[in-house]
Amino acid sequence: MVTGALEGIYNPRESESVIRLLLEQITQKSTVDFILDSQMEISPEQTGVLEAWIERLQRHEPVQYVLGTTEFFGLTLRVEPGVLIPRGETEELVQWILNDYKNEQIDHTRSPLRILDIGCGSGAIAIALSCHIPGADVRAADISERAIQLTLTNDMNAAPCARSRIPVQVNRMDILHPVPLPDNRPFDLIVSNPPYVLESRKEEMDRRVTVFEPPEALFVPDADPLKFYRAIARFATTYLTKKGYIYLEINEDFGREVVSLFKSGFSEVILRQDIHGKDRMIRIYNG
Ligand SMILES: C[S@@+](CC[C@H](N)C(=O)[O-])C[C@H]1O[C@@H](n2cnc3c(N)ncnc32)[C@H](O)[C@@H]1O
Repeated sequence: MVTGALEGIYNPRESESVIRLLLEQITQKSTVDFILDSQMEISPEQTGVLEAWIERLQRHEPVQYVLGTTEFFGLTLRVEPGVLIPRGETEELVQWILNDYKNEQIDHTRSPLRILDIGCGSGAIAIALSCHIPGADVRAADISERAIQLTLTNDMNAAPCARSRIPVQVNRMDILHPVPLPDNRPFDLIVSNPPYVLESRKEEMDRRVTVFEPPEALFVPDADPLKFYRAIARFATTYLTKKGYIYLEINEDFGREVVSLFKSGFSEVILRQDIHGKDRMIRIYNG
């Protein structure tokens, strides 16, 4: 019955899992508890919270903002309006890096491995890498003060994820007008999921994204869709070590263009598809 309240916003299956997520958070019980006790009742206070949350969902607010959290690569991260909700495609980018690290495509003798995440948002990429690459010195940078604060919070909350973990250092940086980061040393690995959605696509996108997520985290002008990639390439000519790597998430419609942009300055560029078969990420090697 409650799921009907979300008609037109989510399909019936999504509605059910969204309501389940809300109930889990409100009652601190698991899905299994609900299955075992189908008659479980919630208190009047809990009903009040549930109703308030459903109203927010009816206004098309993303469920992650309503709950204040999302899952990314096994981590529970805080998210809030003004900062992008990390996506599944970005987990694939992180997985690519970790596979390359495990099979030693990325040089293990560099210690600590210096990593920079440009446009860190909630800190998802930087924190996941720092949890899975032992001893890595991970920096995260963003132009947005809210993103910086949220990354710091998420990094503190993620601290127990690995024993030899060094906290992520977070800095404000405008990649379009970069100034050297505090210690001014190059990085072995630069990663970024920069804004890449064409402004003209806004019309066809879900209101959950266009009304609630920060436009400056998502959109680029149609007249200059690669502006962040050009800025990253420029930055990397000074701040990427020899034999270092860049990993980037990309707009599926611009795979060839991003590849050719980096091919003019770097020795090896590989384009990779996401699980939906769309051109979604590239790896650049500074050989
Ligand atoms: C697509 S979001 C990615 C967020 C996060 N890395 C993730 O994958 O969920 C792009 C991020 O770039 C940041 N950004 C936008 N313009 C920027 C700039 N000029 N310099 C640095 N960061 C910028 C935004 O604030 C946003 O956090």
